[in-house]
Amino acid sequence: MKCVFSGVKPTGIITLGNYLGAIKRFVDVQDQAEKNFYSVVDLHALTVAQDPKEMYENTLNIAAVYLAVGLDPRKATLFVQSHVPAHAEASWMLTCLSRMGELNRMTQFKDKGRGSDSAGVGLFTYPVLMAADVLLYQTTHVPVGEDQKQHLELTRDLAERFNRDYGEIFVMPEPLIAEVGARIMGLQNPEKKMSKSDDSDANYITLMDTPKEIEKKIKRAVTDSENAIYFDEENKPGVSNLLSIQSVLTGETMDSIVQSYEGLGYGALKKNLIEITVDHLTPIQQRYQEIRQSEELTNILRHGAEHADAVASETLKKIKDALGLVRL
Ligand code: TYM
Repeated sequence: MKCVFSGVKPTGIITLGNYLGAIKRFVDVQDQAEKNFYSVVDLHALTVAQDPKEMYENTLNIAAVYLAVGLDPRKATLFVQSHVPAHAEASWMLTCLSRMGELNRMTQFKDKGRGSDSAGVGLFTYPVLMAADVLLYQTTHVPVGEDQKQHLELTRDLAERFNRDYGEIFVMPEPLIAEVGARIMGLQNPEKKMSKSDDSDANYITLMDTPKEIEKKIKRAVTDSENAIYFDEENKPGVSNLLSIQSVLTGETMDSIVQSYEGLGYGALKKNLIEITVDHLTPIQQRYQEIRQSEELTNILRHGAEHADAVASETLKKIKDALGLVRL
């Protein structure tokens, strides 16, 4: 892999879904890629009204999570999106290439905007900013959860259109979507993806939940009345979700996990998963607390922004030249 890019919005807590579907995978691929860029995409967070104080804290929190889970600043460039002005500039240039129809078809916009007149324009153009993020770094691979797949298809369409009309500038990025874990479901409602914007906090586990909270949430997770442990997303979404979580956390295959529960019931599955989750998250939480309070964090972000800016500015120059914008 030549260049990996991904981002996470600083909109509050990080769920186990964000972690297993995306952030954990950033760490898994950082040694395989020649270059890694991971951004805290604060401009994307602005698409929904944010409390400025929380926005400030959340941005630093996500950066601290990046480091706490094991991203290594010597291998990965970690930066805040708004620190690199090229993102907003390139986003405008790509907006002028985008069509109403293709943005209207984005399911996330349909879900969030619900076609209403009062839906934010930022929500509508959100995927174009995401395309700018990816394309500015000549990204070859983008690790994301399944809900971002459509946005990356749009990114490819815009890149293709630009390359065709103005000259070959952009590299075509591939989404990296895991087979297991790309769509972690809610614990109370396993028909819907686990989401930080969910009304009930029993539906998600956050990266910062205490062992007690994790225990309570997994114990209460919805299963079914069969009490037989096997993977069947369609008929047993709750149990299959718990098995997927275990598989991503331990790296074990689904088959071997299912085998290990032979003859056992849901009580055993939940008890084991509580232990695995707590053991996995506790060291991350400890590192997070240390990093969040250290000055190292802002130094890493400052350095990351400088490097990201240098790379993104090069691509931006090419975009401007291709479009015939005068540079002096
Ligand atoms: P965001 O901040 O909503 O989510 C961050 C990442 O978490 C994944 N994810 C999940 N994966 C599995 N199961 C779930 N239940 C689950 N919920 C969330 C998301 O797919 C995502 O990978 N638009 C992006 C941020 C972004 C970006 C980018 C990503 C902005 N620019 C450029 C890649 C490249 C977003 O809203 O992520």
